[in-house]
Amino acid sequence: MATKRGSWKTRYGFYLLAVGSACGLGNLWRFPYVVGENGGGAFILLYGFMALAIGAPLLIAELMLGKGTRRSVIVATQQMGQKSGVRSLRWVGRLAVLVSIVVLSYYSVISGWVLHFLTQFLISLFSSSDQVVDKTNLAALMSNGWLQLMLASAHILITVVVVVKGVQQGLERWIGYTMPLFVALVAILVMRSFSLPSTPEVLRFLFYPDFSKLTWSSLNHALGHVFFTLSVGFGTMVTFGSYMREEDHIPTAGFRVTIVDTMISMIAVVMIFPVAFQASNVPLTDPALMFEVLPKYLLGVPGGVLFGLAFFVCLYLAALNASIGLLEVVVSNWVDAQKEMERGKATWYSGAIALLLTVLPALSSSIFKDIRVGGRSLIENLDSLLINWLLPVVALGILIAFNMGISEKEKELGFVDKDKFVSYSMYPHWLFILRWAGPIVILLGLLLQIVGVFTQ
Ligand code: PFF
Repeated sequence: MATKRGSWKTRYGFYLLAVGSACGLGNLWRFPYVVGENGGGAFILLYGFMALAIGAPLLIAELMLGKGTRRSVIVATQQMGQKSGVRSLRWVGRLAVLVSIVVLSYYSVISGWVLHFLTQFLISLFSSSDQVVDKTNLAALMSNGWLQLMLASAHILITVVVVVKGVQQGLERWIGYTMPLFVALVAILVMRSFSLPSTPEVLRFLFYPDFSKLTWSSLNHALGHVFFTLSVGFGTMVTFGSYMREEDHIPTAGFRVTIVDTMISMIAVVMIFPVAFQASNVPLTDPALMFEVLPKYLLGVPGGVLFGLAFFVCLYLAALNASIGLLEVVVSNWVDAQKEMERGKATWYSGAIALLLTVLPALSSSIFKDIRVGGRSLIENLDSLLINWLLPVVALGILIAFNMGISEKEKELGFVDKDKFVSYSMYPHWLFILRWAGPIVILLGLLLQIVGVFTQ
């Protein structure tokens, strides 16, 4: 079944790529405002539980699917379809790749925002402070659709060039070096945030769960975000699994990635919220929350410009790494499914498609700002369609393909490490989640969300 395929020389390579793809804008930009939308502490509890109980087991299943077939998601699900006689399973892989490319186009717009602040902080180093406040104003960026489109295009181009040149490994090393700096910057920001007078109120909001604040859609919002942030349901982890070394233990890897990613999301929340509460005029549900409050706050503290520059450089590298993961899914599937397609060509074509798709979200807050569905802008609707609806559906599809196409024996072989007590004691729970709890919870989430739409 396995064909010759590149794999990493060290375990480190896998972690850099998997953690790099999981930790990105989803943690720092998206998670805080989703928590704000869903009322704080109770949602955080729900989210943390879903990440461990549903996200991690699914992540492990995706990695195993890739490692077992040594293929990307389209061919892997096709093989599952052939093995189980359910040929329609091949649609799961196709849908996953479609979601990946659309997410890449919209992720690029947000990465473009990061680029904007990065350059503004850079310029600010050399200009007077009142100009700076003006330039870092988010409203100015939002009303300038062409600037957003230009920034998003620049981001896509950078991503394509990195992938075409095959310099990911060089970049990963770079990211490996800047990671400690990022951690240090975030730690300093958390400490600074905590010294703000808003802290007690924030702590109550975040850690004193008020379950009455959860809505019909909260379960699905939690699941959707878990899949998005763990890069599950895109086929990314299937591709990464296909590059794993034979001796790598998948469950350990899956749990580690989940734990690191969840911790970063929690840290992001305690970093952003005290600043957001302090700036009382910004709604916590605003998708631009982080960009709204952080730059202004940084400009107001001594040394903030340099700090802001370093912070946005690190954030951009994280966004770039995640985007590389998204592009990599599309490219690896293309090359896998169409043998005569050259990798370089597939990368340029995928980039061109993402570029075309990015026009709509990039112009959503300017030229298309009057197109609103359900009181929300185009980009917010796209976000919701992709993350709250399509991702859970694809994740469920991958789960079904995995359950039907991978035998019990193969599952056990992939999961159980006889020397590790945790691994064989967890095995029956993992199976139960894949067979029953996972599909039921995902379907329930979708159902409750439908109820939410009709009772809004
Ligand atoms: N997990 C990334 C984040 O939280 O920002 C988003 C993402 C990256 C999803 C790469 C999928 C992927 F393949």
